[in-house]
Amino acid sequence: MNKKVEISFQNEKIELPVVTGSENEQAVDISKLRSQTGLITLDRGFKNTGSTSSSITFLDGERGILRYRGYSIEDLAQHSSFLEVSYLLINGQLPNINELNNFKSEITNHTLVAEDVRSILDGFPPRAHPMGVLCSLVSSLTAFYPKSLDPNRSSEEINGTIIRTIAKLPTLAAWSYKNRVRQPIIYPRNDLDYSSNFLHMMFALPTLNNNVNPIVANALDKLLILHADHEQNCSASTVRIVGSSHASLYASISAGINALWGPLHGGANQAVIEMLEQIRNDEGNVKKYVQKAKDKSDPFRLMGFGHRVYKSFDPRARIIKKTCDEVLEQLGVTDPVLDVAKELEEIALKDQYFIDRSLYPNVDFYSGIIYRALGIPTDMFTVMFALGRIPGWIAQWKESREQNEPIGRPRQIYTGEKQRDYINIKNR
Ligand SMILES: CC(C)(COP(=O)(O)OP(=O)(O)OC[C@H]1O[C@@H](n2cnc3c(N)ncnc32)[C@H](O)[C@@H]1OP(=O)(O)O)[C@@H](O)C(=O)NCCC(=O)NCCS
Repeated sequence: MNKKVEISFQNEKIELPVVTGSENEQAVDISKLRSQTGLITLDRGFKNTGSTSSSITFLDGERGILRYRGYSIEDLAQHSSFLEVSYLLINGQLPNINELNNFKSEITNHTLVAEDVRSILDGFPPRAHPMGVLCSLVSSLTAFYPKSLDPNRSSEEINGTIIRTIAKLPTLAAWSYKNRVRQPIIYPRNDLDYSSNFLHMMFALPTLNNNVNPIVANALDKLLILHADHEQNCSASTVRIVGSSHASLYASISAGINALWGPLHGGANQAVIEMLEQIRNDEGNVKKYVQKAKDKSDPFRLMGFGHRVYKSFDPRARIIKKTCDEVLEQLGVTDPVLDVAKELEEIALKDQYFIDRSLYPNVDFYSGIIYRALGIPTDMFTVMFALGRIPGWIAQWKESREQNEPIGRPRQIYTGEKQRDYINIKNR
């Protein structure tokens, strides 16, 4: 039976259809609401608003479920690789062996970026945050591949842009770091797998080859899988909305990187480590900071806690916590910040304030600790997140274009002045 929602407004009744998803989640379709009643809906932060229908990622925040194309994040993190997951997200199915090999070889063939990118990189001052550098470099790819700007681009051209985006991102990300530390850039090595090649470009020097530790490369690959998509979050919605104006994939991804940068989104992983270090330097006084987080007159929040949709636990955080313990043990690293993190988690999880608001550690709470153990500097953490999120953004952009979604253009309730006459400056 087709379900409907009935709305009555000013003595008029209208019926709005209910849409049901494949996991039985339900939405009222309000696309006719304004034409039939003159009303719009007001939903700050889109807390109740579905912006699209999507077959990429399923997320159940109440039950702590995350699946890409139907496969659980736990299974993928344990058995898959980042490039296989990228293929899955973008194409909808797991690849067979030939498809995976072709995909890998296409990516490998496009890892190099145009030499002119180096002069753009040279223009950035040494203190430039790598996220700012990365989004600029990604945007600059439009200059090297102008066909990507054509709104009537062929599917072949789109596929080429997709491959180039995945292939060149590690190069651009590693170079944004080399600019930061004022070291010569290192070119990609196509004999290495995706994560190892990235680590090579990050840590090798022209004078010193860096033998990538497979423990580190495997851990990074797993982290990238965990970050690969997360349905209609702030940056994915940004990518879709920029793409809805028929902007190029590079421009849309660059916008997504900017959206991810903020501390309430991907920037939280950097903010978590800075917070944990601050607590450690403050005599490890965890209780003081839990108190601060609860104090409404204090803007301080526990970074790495809370999530817009996960209200029981973040499944990625569980996997990361376990991986974190394993990686630290395998690498023989002890990190005093980890002790602060564990104590903070224990105290906060028992605290009524956090229980009442369903605030749990999210993916960013432990990822920074692993990144530190892998030797990744703090201001590269969000770049690592961006690197992982690339296939998700691509899949979201592609789906939005294939569904021929209209340009994203929310409405508003205007609360400003009514019409008034212009006053000459002498009379103001
Ligand atoms: C992720 C986040 C932005 C979600 O925000 P949201 O869904 O809009 O939730 P709200 O900001 O409305 O928070 C709901 C309540 O919990 C409180 N809260 C949320 N996160 C909190 C945190 N990290 N520390 C302390 N209080 C927090 C809010 O103050 C609010 O309290 P109130 O109901 O008494 O006013 C938010 O939890 C946050 O800022 N977390 C820290 C940043 C972070 O780790 N981001 C990474 C996300 S993967």
